[in-house]
Amino acid sequence: MSKKIFSGVQPSGNLHLGNYLGAIKNFVNLQNEKNNQCVYCVVDLHAITVKQNPKELKDSIRETTAAFIASGLDYKRSIIFNQSSVPSHSEGSWILSCVARMGWLNRMTQFKEKAGKDKEKASVGLYIYPILMASDILLYDTTHVPVGEDQKQHLELTRDIAQKFNLEFNCPDFFTAPEPLIQKTFARIMSLKDGKKKMSKSDPSDLSRVNLNDSKDVIINKIKKAKTDDKSMPEDNKNLNKRPEIENLLGIYSSLADQKIEKTINEFSGKNFSEFKTKLSEMVVEKISPISTEINKLQEDKEFIDKILRDGSERANEIASKKVNELKKIVGF
Ligand code: AMP
Ligand code: TRP
Repeated sequence: MSKKIFSGVQPSGNLHLGNYLGAIKNFVNLQNEKNNQCVYCVVDLHAITVKQNPKELKDSIRETTAAFIASGLDYKRSIIFNQSSVPSHSEGSWILSCVARMGWLNRMTQFKEKAGKDKEKASVGLYIYPILMASDILLYDTTHVPVGEDQKQHLELTRDIAQKFNLEFNCPDFFTAPEPLIQKTFARIMSLKDGKKKMSKSDPSDLSRVNLNDSKDVIINKIKKAKTDDKSMPEDNKNLNKRPEIENLLGIYSSLADQKIEKTINEFSGKNFSEFKTKLSEMVVEKISPISTEINKLQEDKEFIDKILRDGSERANEIASKKVNELKKIVGF
């Protein structure tokens, strides 16, 4: 069955191995399935919910676009564009914010995490961010949304908004309630320094993540410094969840090798950590270095990237503006 796919990634700082294994790798697989319509968006409107340096934002948008392409997305097969260049996303977001309820947004755990202790000082944009995300998804009649596990709750909110709108305006088929596509295994890649914390761009320590544009030497050094424990390599997956750092490293290896974690455990049981880390470095370098080289090459040609985004925006605009016009009619404008 053909699927309508939509997903977005924020252009804020470097993309890392978590973004690649949790999301982008899956974007590429879906693009390569027959008959899927795929739309991949650099969500720059979402990025400004926290302070950005205007001079750097433009480059980050290009860098994320370059990372999409370097990872295997094809701008001819998929629509690749940046959110702010298609005004329908903001227009739709306003209308949907009159459908969504405060109580629903108050339950969003990502807002609580990102706003921290001083909620009063968080931007209103950060609070209503999931509504803009719902607008992104619903304007394309999306059926499936590939995301990492941290976005599951936002997808549930999107479904609630779609259903409430359809019911309230008596148009049962207008919005499609999308399904999240979350990988069953390795959906959450953890920090190299703390197996209980998600690998994240906002972690102050660069040693906590492998960035997609890290050089070989940097990757090898980061894996060497990754946290382990003083026990030996596990012999099976029993109690592995009590050793989160080890579980994470075995998971990264397995995901990059496209194999089950049990196979990786068997491969390395009885060996010492330094041997495993050497193999893990080789694996990460083998898979990530070609992407990193390509990102750097693409970034030298800003015109080329800007043209991809312009073409993508035109194609996206055709779909989204049509839906927003229908939406406006339904609400009575
Ligand atoms: P973001 O950088 O927050 O815009 O995330 C882009 C995509 O990468 C989203 O689908 C996230 O769920 C996914 N993602 C981000 N960090 C991780 C991680 N540590 N593990 C798995 N997926 C992640
Ligand atoms: N909120 C997502 C994140 O931070 C990014 C995003 C914005 C998104 N709009 C989307 C993801 C639409 C999927 C679909 O990762």
